[in-house]
Amino acid sequence: MNRAFVIHGGNELSGAIEVRGSKNSALPILAATLLTKEKCRIRNLPRVLDVMAMIETLEQIGAKVKWLDKRTIEIENRNIHPANLSKDSVKKMRASILLLGPLLARFGHVEKMRYPGGDKIGARPIDTHLKAFADLGAKVTCGRNFFSVEMSRLRKLPDTVTLQEFSVTATENMLLFLSSIPKTTKLNIAACEPHVRDLAVFLSKMGARIRGAGSSTMRIRGAKKLRGASHKVIPDYIEAGTFLLAALAAGGSVLIKNAPLFDLDLVISTLQTAGADIRLFPKKKTIEIYSLKGARLLNGKRMVIQKIQTLPHPGIPTDLQSAFGVLATQTRGSTLIHDPLYEKRFETLKELRKMGVALKICDSHQALIPGPVKLRGADVTCYDLRGGAALIIAGLAAQGTTIVRDVEHIERGYEDIAGRLRALGADIKKTT
Ligand code: EPU
Repeated sequence: MNRAFVIHGGNELSGAIEVRGSKNSALPILAATLLTKEKCRIRNLPRVLDVMAMIETLEQIGAKVKWLDKRTIEIENRNIHPANLSKDSVKKMRASILLLGPLLARFGHVEKMRYPGGDKIGARPIDTHLKAFADLGAKVTCGRNFFSVEMSRLRKLPDTVTLQEFSVTATENMLLFLSSIPKTTKLNIAACEPHVRDLAVFLSKMGARIRGAGSSTMRIRGAKKLRGASHKVIPDYIEAGTFLLAALAAGGSVLIKNAPLFDLDLVISTLQTAGADIRLFPKKKTIEIYSLKGARLLNGKRMVIQKIQTLPHPGIPTDLQSAFGVLATQTRGSTLIHDPLYEKRFETLKELRKMGVALKICDSHQALIPGPVKLRGADVTCYDLRGGAALIIAGLAAQGTTIVRDVEHIERGYEDIAGRLRALGADIKKTT
């Protein structure tokens, strides 16, 4: 049954909330463990559906997984059988594409792999991945539902690969594959997201030499035999950003602990320029927010945001686009939201019409949000993970009761979000 969150809005938030490990970092790192037969230990895993699904998928093909505590696993991939990969688990999860690089590195071929699933937020093709492998000399065969990739072991690999765009998972797939090739390859147009950097750190612990991680040009010198490694997943900058925007829209005094401040540079400075009272404590990895309900400052003035444009890192993340859209309903004047990356992410903003927002969708990449609007509770539906979190924020900022449906999307990436927001004073519970 599809569950829902029921939110009685209007409570200001108060207290401290701690950021969990990054889902988008944990997923490629779990995939990377396939590159060695030795044991790996991964700490600070967020307990979210996507991470559990990735661990189950690895177990399906032979991984031996032991939970050492609530967030730490030891994983050993001695005997791996890619043929056992179930079509359903691949279809369900976009991140299943991250198995391609390590399986190719280990077996030289991946046969009849189903195209990955995931959120319906846009076209999200895997052309960038497949073209990069083809450029490395692989034979790529694409069918309607399946694709196969075969990498000849005898072929001399080129020294440079240039991705077609700043694709996060395509960059990660290249890192995963090239880390097991004992020569230096230059990777151009590499994505710079914090989770790409974290994967590079883990692969380096396994024995690869990676330079330039976090920039758009990387140099990867792989090793013939990678070793087991231990790693603590970085905190999730998208989760931290979600809490930051929630505190501003709902109002209150909130401490966000274990926050990756550096990864949120532009988000924080955009909000501060818009007038938000945000204080940073880098040594304590803490963000402190003071806000009155409706994005108002302590002197009663409202924040003003004229435009938000999402871009690959270090730009404002598209994963925070919907939450910025919700905040924009509380700021003074119109806000233009421009998301050049995904063409279906405005489904969430359209739901805000049910809460009283007369927003204008200019085209599939631009929306104009009026503000300030008195949000009223409504019955709304999640279309994707990050959009779902944004609808929770809208529910917190609204008067009356909001029902957010299809919350399985949200649970793919946020751990016990209702319980953690309740600890800040929110009136939110999940239907059984
Ligand atoms: N795109 C552009 N221009 C670019 C780069 C990308 O238009 O320069 C478009 C692509 O065409 C594609 C979309 O943006 O339609 C996403 O591209 P990408 O391949 O980078 O996305 P991804 O690797 O499939 C990862 C995250 C997503 C996150 C995007 C963008 C993982 C497992 N997924 O997806 O996370 O939205 O990068 O940052 O890391 C989420 O966590 O909710 C989520 C969807």
